[in-house]
Amino acid sequence: MSHPTAVNTGKSKRRLVETLNYLDGEYKNDIGKEIREGLSALQKYIPCKYFYDARGLKLFEEICQLPEYYPTRTEISILRVIAPELMETFADKDIVELGSGANLKIRILLDAVDKSIRATLRYIPVDISESAVIETSRDLLERYPELQVLGIVADFTSQLDVIPTERPLMFCFLGSTIGNMEEDETISFLQSISENMKTDDRLLVGFDMVKTRETVEAAYNDSKGVTAEFNKNILNVLNNELNANFDPSHFDHLAFFSEDYDRIEMHLRANRDISVKLKAIDLETEFKKDETIHTENSRKFTGKSIKDLASRAGLSIQNWYSDPAGWFSLVVMIRDPQRNG
Ligand code: AVI
Repeated sequence: MSHPTAVNTGKSKRRLVETLNYLDGEYKNDIGKEIREGLSALQKYIPCKYFYDARGLKLFEEICQLPEYYPTRTEISILRVIAPELMETFADKDIVELGSGANLKIRILLDAVDKSIRATLRYIPVDISESAVIETSRDLLERYPELQVLGIVADFTSQLDVIPTERPLMFCFLGSTIGNMEEDETISFLQSISENMKTDDRLLVGFDMVKTRETVEAAYNDSKGVTAEFNKNILNVLNNELNANFDPSHFDHLAFFSEDYDRIEMHLRANRDISVKLKAIDLETEFKKDETIHTENSRKFTGKSIKDLASRAGLSIQNWYSDPAGWFSLVVMIRDPQRNG
């Protein structure tokens, strides 16, 4: 396990937000390696985790408010109904949010219990964005001064072992972020969560379900063009991180539903022949007009595909909640009692 750096996060009204940073130099080096690999592939790609610099996080928050982007409001509508049941008998425990973002959904869970119960809880946001962890933890403490908060800056796909497990906990992996992982990656990720789970721990996962092509495609091609901005911003991230000279206006946003894979694919399509230099990794890359960079997959799920994932990962489904139209599912999983080790 790596050794964390304690971060001075400044004061909330009442006390310091305790934050541990587990991202080391190696993580920084990965970006160069991953981008070199992605831009040298036959179908060029950029891993979607690089969307989320400060501007990317803001744009994503804006996407979540758009009328066409149904996943956030649908998930929130389910959470509001089920929060009292989820939080029943939930005292002296930790809530671990993987990919914590703006933590608005956690507030719904926290609002479902009394202040005296909240005082026994600890919220542990885990995210690669240090500023997101710090700012959102501060906001949460201002709102719930009685709550314990421990911010963890880490890559939750590879650093689950840094999460404290001495108290019973509920892992939350919301927003259908699971859909942004490839299938193999999803299985190994869920497996490593289940290996870190004790018998009483729970895992709450949000899944965006398969629905009509029109509805899904509209969610990723909004009329205000925020998703297009979000998609193109990944090029600004490479400009900043790798001293590259992408001009985002030389690329168009493309998002479509693939029925073969039950997923939305996002690409950036070159609108002319382009040559780009990424000085920090000494790479020069060419794009022919209409060539695309694949920037994201957002998989959509069915009841069967979720059950299959759970069983392959050594998890068993304890509860399943959906909205009336079946657009989104929140699934509570526990470690499969039959599983050894
Ligand atoms: C974060 N993730 C679940 C979003 C999604 O829907 O796949 C990211 C996103 N991409 C475009 N719009 C939103």
